[in-house]
Amino acid sequence: MSKKLLTIAIVLIASGVTAWNYLPLPNPAQWTEAEIQLIDSLSLANLPLIPPDPSNAVADLEQAAELGYRLFFDTRLSSDGNVACATCHQPELMFTDGLRLSMGAALGTRNAPSLVGIAYSPWFYWDGRKDSQWAQALAPLEAEIEHGSDRVRLTKLMQTDSPYAALYQTVFGSLPVQLTLPESASPLGNRTQQAAWKAMDAPTRRAVSQVFANLGKAIAAYQRKLIPGLTAFDTYAAAVIANPATRQPDSLSASQVAGLRIFIGKAQCVSCHNGPLFTNSEFHNTGVLAVPGQLPAMGRYDGIRLAREDPFNCTGEFSDATASDCIELRFAADSNDLVGAHKTPTLRNLTLTAPYMHGGQIDTLRQVLQHYNDAPLSMLSHNEAKPLGLRPVELRQLENFLTSLTAPLATAKRWLRAPAD
Ligand code: HEC
Ligand code: HEC
Repeated sequence: MSKKLLTIAIVLIASGVTAWNYLPLPNPAQWTEAEIQLIDSLSLANLPLIPPDPSNAVADLEQAAELGYRLFFDTRLSSDGNVACATCHQPELMFTDGLRLSMGAALGTRNAPSLVGIAYSPWFYWDGRKDSQWAQALAPLEAEIEHGSDRVRLTKLMQTDSPYAALYQTVFGSLPVQLTLPESASPLGNRTQQAAWKAMDAPTRRAVSQVFANLGKAIAAYQRKLIPGLTAFDTYAAAVIANPATRQPDSLSASQVAGLRIFIGKAQCVSCHNGPLFTNSEFHNTGVLAVPGQLPAMGRYDGIRLAREDPFNCTGEFSDATASDCIELRFAADSNDLVGAHKTPTLRNLTLTAPYMHGGQIDTLRQVLQHYNDAPLSMLSHNEAKPLGLRPVELRQLENFLTSLTAPLATAKRWLRAPAD
């Protein structure tokens, strides 16, 4: 070593600048073939077409999306007139609400997930207790802590509001207008609502449930429009794939590139957060603490049973699918390993979707990464993730990488604001 270099080294060591704080940044030209394939697999360029939903005959009908769009933003669908889907799924927050636990007609027990790219998911809710987007959409409408409405009131709204009646008929044909209906009734409501439901005759109950299911199908058609947009990461991926020997493209900083390397390498985040939406759409136990005041959640262990029992599932009478279409439901895994397992969320747009995890247990990305680094024991069953042993500088790089995954949606602007009229 020359005398000059030796002096620099001594000065650096003396001033506390060690490799601990300043890891050499990798040369971006040094991606291996396998790494390039992984980067490619995460790129939005590889997002396939939205999978068809055979259980929903109107899933790709423009008029159905129009009806669903109006319903999504309409607070008249709630018992107190204050709650719409968009209350908890706000377009400017990537269809989340910024709260730890959602607040509808009352305080909820779960964190509102982003709805961006939701049409690619085979299961819905953190525990996957719904097997279609339209079946999912029905639940908040009748949940006491969300919209707190019921299917009879919603059917009457379709009958009495002429713009809705017209749109509904365009999409679904006839609207049963002749029905004599009580003020409010549902098989899931309080005692009075349940009694009123039982007092209705079977054909009326069926007609009402059909209108209700159709509203879910229209809302699902709208949500199929919510598609993520190209991020800095995707631009970087395109540059690397076009020319693996490329020097640092401008789209990601050196620190973000280092974070990407950790994400697909050492930390193995990519084993669950994979594909262009950064999710395998499966269920895992990652040792997240129980929500304060709640028992540890059973997660998917209960979710799959609930999905099988749901009268609005793929094999039910309101589904447009044939039994052979319902592969996911028929072959879904069902084992003790699913105790405490939750759906792997997308990591796109994370900078706008805090707080994180199924109960909003973790406030910041920095804390999420600390959680993975520690990999605490699970309160129920076992944590699948193992401690990572990442150094502070590596955690920072990983965090910087995660912030490169936010971008405006690829969805036309008109779908992202409440209807003007
Ligand atoms: C009171 C707030 C609130 C309202 C109102 C609400 N949601 Fe949600 N939404 C949530 C929460 C919280 C979850 C997660 C619940 C769970 O997993 O148990 C969720 C989950 C979802 C999911 C599943 C996402 C996934 O990744 O699996 C979809 C889709 C969804 N909501 C759409 C809707 C639609 C459509 C409406 C209106 C009909 C609606 N939500 C009304 C709070 C709300
Ligand atoms: C074993 C599968 C698995 C691995 C490995 C994994 N995750 Fe996750 N991730 C999940 C699941 C499941 C959740 C939701 C857990 C919950 O809410 O209980 C989650 C949640 C998250 C969230 C919160 C997102 C939100 O919207 O709430 C972030 C951020 C995240 N993971 C990043 C990472 C990073 C970074 C790594 C690598 C260090 C990683 N994950 C490794 C499965 C995994």
